[in-house]
Amino acid sequence: MECLAGTTLGEFIIRQQAAYPHATGELSTLLSSLQRAARVVNREINRAGISDVLGSMDQLNVQGEEQQKLDWFANERFKEALAARGEVCGLASEEEDGFVTFSPVNKRPGKYVVLIDPLDGSSNIDVNISVGTIFSIYRRVSPIDGPVVLADFLQPGSEQVAAGYIIYGSSTMLVYSTGQGVNGFTLDPSLGSFFLSHPNMRIPQQGRIYSINEGNYVDFPPGVKRFIKECQRDCPAENRPYTSRYIGSLVADFHRNLIKGGIYLYPPGTQLPDGKLRLLYEANPLAFLMEQAGGMATNGDVRLLTLQPESLHQRTPCYLGSRQLMLLLSACLCH
Ligand code: AHG
Ligand code: MN
Ligand code: MN
Repeated sequence: MECLAGTTLGEFIIRQQAAYPHATGELSTLLSSLQRAARVVNREINRAGISDVLGSMDQLNVQGEEQQKLDWFANERFKEALAARGEVCGLASEEEDGFVTFSPVNKRPGKYVVLIDPLDGSSNIDVNISVGTIFSIYRRVSPIDGPVVLADFLQPGSEQVAAGYIIYGSSTMLVYSTGQGVNGFTLDPSLGSFFLSHPNMRIPQQGRIYSINEGNYVDFPPGVKRFIKECQRDCPAENRPYTSRYIGSLVADFHRNLIKGGIYLYPPGTQLPDGKLRLLYEANPLAFLMEQAGGMATNGDVRLLTLQPESLHQRTPCYLGSRQLMLLLSACLCH
């Protein structure tokens, strides 16, 4: 079926903007820049095996993790695309030590900051498994005519103006929210456009998938161990045992659970007392999407979106999922 009658992402963004008479169009332009960079990164990922982009850069990022060539490539493309237009005054990235300041374009300072995990699941690149990009957008809080400052980036997730991800999977999709529900767009590679394929995405209230790196079991908090045992309990009347799925690319695990219903868990452990996921680049944007899709997102204690960030690369325990599974988890954690 040809998609001549379909809505493109560009058309959808313009339609949404029209609902706000005072909108200046800057957020729309910013989202367009993100989709443009996504198409370039997608092209490179698709031909990864035949171009020289697989493997490591032989250097560590600021968090001591091995940087892959594609981590670096994706970071550069998103940075270029966002710097070129002028809506964004600064960017913080998992791949940069500190935040990056963008110069004003046409003397007009940008009013947004972007926080990004340019390539999520990078350990999966070399083995042809889905990876992603996660982005988060805030309005700056510092005066528009002054320099961008750290406080512009350290805002609670509830202040996000928009958040989303791109999944480079069996098809490439861009999923995002500006706080009025979640919509998903699939890239038609022959036309080079994203088309609305998943309008108003809602996570099933009662999912039956749990996603966790069970290899770390001995290190899990007792409440998480109790939850796993609950998921594994043999009770056909309640559709249990539930099913375990974990691919190790957060975006892919999240996307599957969003569509089918489930829960993603990255608990704290003795090696990683705050878990592994980054609050600003991973947990908060996905928490925003999860809540917008009707699910819940916590650090095991409070809503992720209420946390006041203290540093750019801060980590947090992270639980995201269907309402009933999140309530079961919270009962197990409080037990
Ligand atoms: P990144 O590639 O951006 O560093 O993220 C890796 C993250 C996330 O994608 C995934 O869910 C998690 O690390 C997997 O961690 P474990 O290998 O510890 O399960
Ligand atoms: Mn990541
Ligand atoms: Mn990454």
